[in-house]
Amino acid sequence: IKMTKEEKYRYIEQARPDELEKLQKQIERCAWRQNYHIQPQTGLLNDPNGFSYYNGIYHLFYQWFPFGPEHGMKYWFHTVSKDLCTWENVGIGIKPGDSYDSHGVYSGSAIVKDEKLYLMYTGNTRDENWVRHPFQCMAYMNESGVIQKLTNPVISTVPNGYTDHFRDPKVWKKDDTYFCIIGAQRKNKTGCAVLYKSSDLMNWEFQGELETTLPSNFGYMWECPDYFELEEHGILLFSPQGLEAEGEKYQNIYQSGYLVGEPLDLETRKFCHDAFHELDRGFDFYAQHTTLSEDGRRLLIGWMGLPDLAYPTDQNGWAHCLTIPRQLEIREGKLIQQPISELMKLRKNERQARFTLENERKKVKEFSGLSYELIYEIENIQARYIGIEFRAKDQEKTVFFYDSIKKELVLDRSLSGKSLEAENGNIRRCSFSASKLKIQLFVDVSSVEIFINDGEEVFTSRIFPSPHSKEVCFFTENGSATFQAVQWSYE
Ligand code: FRU
Repeated sequence: IKMTKEEKYRYIEQARPDELEKLQKQIERCAWRQNYHIQPQTGLLNDPNGFSYYNGIYHLFYQWFPFGPEHGMKYWFHTVSKDLCTWENVGIGIKPGDSYDSHGVYSGSAIVKDEKLYLMYTGNTRDENWVRHPFQCMAYMNESGVIQKLTNPVISTVPNGYTDHFRDPKVWKKDDTYFCIIGAQRKNKTGCAVLYKSSDLMNWEFQGELETTLPSNFGYMWECPDYFELEEHGILLFSPQGLEAEGEKYQNIYQSGYLVGEPLDLETRKFCHDAFHELDRGFDFYAQHTTLSEDGRRLLIGWMGLPDLAYPTDQNGWAHCLTIPRQLEIREGKLIQQPISELMKLRKNERQARFTLENERKKVKEFSGLSYELIYEIENIQARYIGIEFRAKDQEKTVFFYDSIKKELVLDRSLSGKSLEAENGNIRRCSFSASKLKIQLFVDVSSVEIFINDGEEVFTSRIFPSPHSKEVCFFTENGSATFQAVQWSYE
């Protein structure tokens, strides 16, 4: 049952007696709670926010609606980690409720200045006619972990030429100047990102639009833009809404992708870049957000979900989780995402297998499980189809394979268990050509993240199998191939 607007726009203090406790109990009975992914204690999680390293520890916030699987009144929920493997819930980081964020503390980012962690976010408000008025706001955390909001927004107006879809500031520092980009919609209903500049994080000057070479109607809104430099390249990540599906591309309801180019010219705002590429090939990935690690690696975390879709956990009172952290690199002009090496700490109980298959299926009994990491390398590829079935039992299975004739990778979740709405589709594919394949899977109770050839492509997806579906099976069709496989339990 959908909530009414009034129910969705309540503050947490307005919870009915026992409401959250009941919800918590309902969620504890859910068979799809994750083991090692960040998930909401109740309600709905969406974008990662304010990812940062401050005061000797990683901070990660996320968009949170406490009362159910709905996009209602959003909070920033705060988690921390020493090792990027295990996360501890701190609780609510930023609460909505002031005149400039009365209807939600929306997405944003973090930056350290003067021993404080500054959190820049979009304050969402609605007037009596339910018209949206966005403000860009600031809060800061001190060394004792206390977060305080500034009394006034730092950017109170939407510049001329843009609609009220104006949000998600991502801030960075270059030399002595702060910059931020904000996701925007032009008055003609096309998407873009705009740039602001500040000397002190408090007073911001509008610079204008980022000038890309994309067509001017590339989507109707760009959410969560993120700009950074990596190995002397300028990288722009964003989540454009409104791209039409095109062959294997743009199959999800909304997209997430990147542009690699020369460093952005901060004076002219000109960005010379290559084509737009999707960051992920799976079903559930959106609103990614990056930061620098303590030792200077560029790390990315995404929302493992999408707006405007119903998910099977909705009936259990919660929705969504975040992806594992990934390290970004550039390889031949392409953005590469690798699981961070810290995750190796989670590895337990190693098992290995090596075998050649010829038009056959092989169940590897030792490899069964609900939460694990599994790597397999394929050599001597003679077969047309070479793949794996996992979280399998009887008719249920999630299938990932390589088609060496069509030269494509395919993820099929049509038999994965409980499915999403049919119009979302059950298959995602991506062209890929290689004589050797290394496939690395991170499987959790209700998700899988598949990295191909050390991060050249990634398929990120939720799956909703039965807790009994634990089997792992490899196969080839129309020929043979050799597999070298290893699995670690994460349970
Ligand atoms: C993206 C998004 C952001 C917004 C936030 C609200 O998923 O719509 O643009 O700030 O979620 O929760």
